[in-house]
Order: sequence, then structure tokens, then C-alpha cells
Amino acid sequence: MSKKRALTGIKPTGAPHIANYIGAIRPALALTEEYDSFYFIADYHALTTIRDARELTDLTYQVAAAWLAMGLDPGKSTLYRQSDLPETFELTWILNCVTPKGMMNRAHAYKAAVDAAREAAGPDGNADLDAGINMGVYSYPVLMAADILLFSSHVVPVGRDQSQHVEYARDIAQRFNHVYGDTLRVPELLLSPTAANIVGSDGRKMSKSYGNQIPLFAESGPLKKIIRRYKTDSSGANDPKDAEGSGLFQIYREIASPEDAAAMKKALETGEMTWGACKDLVFEALDAFLEEPRQRYRELMADVRQIDRILIAGAERARPEARELLARTRQAIGRVELRA
Ligand code: ADP
Ligand code: TRP
Repeated sequence: MSKKRALTGIKPTGAPHIANYIGAIRPALALTEEYDSFYFIADYHALTTIRDARELTDLTYQVAAAWLAMGLDPGKSTLYRQSDLPETFELTWILNCVTPKGMMNRAHAYKAAVDAAREAAGPDGNADLDAGINMGVYSYPVLMAADILLFSSHVVPVGRDQSQHVEYARDIAQRFNHVYGDTLRVPELLLSPTAANIVGSDGRKMSKSYGNQIPLFAESGPLKKIIRRYKTDSSGANDPKDAEGSGLFQIYREIASPEDAAAMKKALETGEMTWGACKDLVFEALDAFLEEPRQRYRELMADVRQIDRILIAGAERARPEARELLARTRQAIGRVELRA
């Protein structure tokens, strides 16, 4: 029996950090054996926010290199760039025409942008709540639905923040099928199993928007500095410490053996371990864990044509299927192929 398809997109909006790895990259890569896995760089989704051409190019390479360096095997799964599949954008338009506008008004990301505009306007009752919001932000979920439906994906592994988008893709597929007959597979949401958000160096959720992240490919020197700077609670050297609430322990637990992780937890909770000693251990473990990926990342970024070749091969593998789905969709809406 052929494997089910899992598909997920990665928006190239920042250099990946350790929490992206633990929360998103690793769980997605864990599906490679069980599923026919499609991973793609959602560069046209990033276009909603990134306006610097060089930055978009660089981030596309950085993100592709990060997934490859962390273990994505392009021989076992398909890695491509969204914008290399023009079928996506034709399908987006077709889906736009069966998507109710009211549904887009309720999308979390769009609503958050409107709320921000409202707040920025203060008490001005006539504020333009759509100020600064481009149509890309508004129709973002339809493009994402096209990404998913183009490949008849069975499951879509994402973090909780993306679950509404997958619900929308399901809803849009059902609406299309209702109007035109069964054409699009209705995908299932596969929530990534991340327990809690990894805490960053300032005590808040690790996020590039807070600048409190541990970049995945930081060299040993800067890595040590970031870990040394990590905010810890003010407990005294021999006081019991909250291991679970500490970003340092959260990271250690993910990369150390279960025995080592249990030993650190116990030593922190009984007060035997100081935060200084904990930082030394976390640094050593992380530095060793990242040594090889860092090397692979450096090699890939030193000659991005290697990345080009992988992305081109991925798009070539994916495209015939995209063409076929689009052909069926065109037929369903009544667009027959003209013959001379
Ligand atoms: P950022 O918050 O740095 O902008 P993104 O929103 O681009 O990160 O996150 C991409 C994915 O990485 C998320 O969908 C989520 O699964 C994962 N992720 C991000 N931050 C964390 C975190 N602090 N802990 C666990 N997972 C995270
Ligand atoms: N919107 C997703 C994010 O911000 C990225 C994405 C684009 C995606 N298209 C997708 C994820 C299709 C899963 C499936 O992280």
C-alpha cells in the first residue's frame, strides 16, 4: 500500500532558532519514514511581510539549508520552493472564487493586524482599520489551502498557531467539492506534539520577534555567550530550582539522553546544581549536538547552487502531480482544453 502524503510549508521569515528546531523542524522530519513527505519553502507567503529582495533570497537559502543540515534527506522526501510551482497560484484564484469573504474576515492573522491598526489609531473613531494591511495578508489562508490541496495531502503537520489555516483548507476543499463534485482531498490536521513553548534568554517564549533566541547555527563562542546571558530565577546557589520552567533545561531535555536529563532535573530541583553549572552543561551538550549540522550548514551556504539543485529536483518531482490535479480542477469548473 502506498504511503499517505504529509505536506508542510516553512515560511522563510527569519534565521531558524533552536525552538523552531524542537517545536517544528524535528517533529516534521520525524514523519519522513511513515509518510510520503513534502516540505516546501513558502517564499510567496513570506512576501506578505518581506520587502527586501536580497533578504527574501537569503532567507530562502538559509531556511532550506537549515532543514537539510538538520537531517532532511532529499532522497527520501521532496523539498521544493513554493514559487517554482505556478500551478499553486492558478489554484489559489480558483479557490478564491469559492471562498466566502466573511471567512477571511475572521482569520486570526488578519484580525490581529486589524487589532494592531485599531490600537495604533488610539481613540480616533474614523481610523482606517485596514491601514498597512496588504491583500496578501488577507488572502494568505487561500494560498495556503492551494499549497495543501494541490498535492491531495492526507495530513498537514503544523504547530497550534497554524491550525485555523488547516481548518480553512478543509472548509475550502469541501465548498469546492460541494459545487463542482468530488475533486479535492479534504486534509487532516496533524498537530505537532510540542508540549510547552521553549523559553528564550529573557524568560519569554523564544521568538525571533523578541530577539531572545538561540540561532541554530551560532558558532561556539557566540553560543556560549547567549547561554551565559540566559535569565534564571534569583534562587541561591543551593536552593531548589524550577527545572521545568527553565528554557535551559527544556533544551537540554531534548538533546541529552533521558538519564542525563533526569540527573540534571534532580540536581536542579534538590539545589545540588547551580545555574552556572547548568549553563556549562547545556552549552557543552548543545555545542556538541550542533557541531555536525553547523558544518553541513556552512558547506551548503558556501555554495548555494547545491541548494538550487535540490530545490529544482524537488519541484521537478512534484510538478507532474500538480499539473494533473490542476487539470482535473480546470475540467471540474468547465475550462476545457482548447484544440486547434
Ligand atoms: P518565531 O516565533 O521565532 O517567529 P515562527 O512563528 O516562525 O517563530 O515559528 C515557526 C514554528 O516554530 C512554529 O509554528 C512553532 O511550531 C515553532 N516554534 C516557534 N517558537 C517556538 C517556541 N518558543 N517553542 C516551541 N516551538 C516554537
Ligand atoms: N503559514 C505557515 C506558517 O506560517 C507556512 C505554510 C504555508 C504552510 N503553506 C503551508 C504550512 C501549507 C503547512 C501547509 O508557518
